[in-house]
Amino acid sequence: MLEALNKQVNAELYSAYLYLSMAAYFESINLKGFSNWMRVQAQEEVSHAMKFFDYINERGGRVKMMAIEQPPTEWNSPLDAFETTYEHETNVTRMINDLVNMAMEEKDHATYNMLQWFVAEQVEEEASADEIRQQLKLIGDDGRGIMMLDRELRQRTFTPPQEEKQ
Ligand code: FEO
Repeated sequence: MLEALNKQVNAELYSAYLYLSMAAYFESINLKGFSNWMRVQAQEEVSHAMKFFDYINERGGRVKMMAIEQPPTEWNSPLDAFETTYEHETNVTRMINDLVNMAMEEKDHATYNMLQWFVAEQVEEEASADEIRQQLKLIGDDGRGIMMLDRELRQRTFTPPQEEKQ
C-alpha cells in the first residue's frame, strides 16, 4: 500500500509539472489569466503530493522521490489544453479509485479514510476543468470571449487545502 501511495506522490508532481507546462504555453500566447489558473493548479498539485508525502511518513514509511516524466509542451488552442486537463483529471480519479480499492482489499482503514479527502477533491477537480472546457466550447473562435474568460481566470488564488476543508 505504501509503495502505491509513493507512486501517487510522483503522479501528483507530474500533474504539477503538466500544469506548469500549460502555464508556460498560455504565457507564450499572452493569456496571463489562463496562465495564472494553471500556476494555481500546479500549486494545488504540489499540495496533493505533500499530503501523500506526509501521510507516508506518519505511517512510518520512507518516501522515495522518482523521476518525473516530461509533459507535453504545446497545445493547439486553449480548448485543446483544457481537454487535456479534463482527461488528465479523469485519469487521476481512476488512480485514486484504484488506491481506494487497494485500501479496501488490504483492510487498511486509516489509508481508506485518508483517501476519502482525495475522492471528494477529484469531484471538484473534474468539475472545475470541465466548466472551463465547456465555456471554451461555447466561446469557439470569439476573441472577445477568450479575453473575458482570461480576465476571470486571473482572479484565481491558491488556498492551502487544510484551510479550505478537512
Ligand atoms: Fe491532484 Fe488534479 O488532482
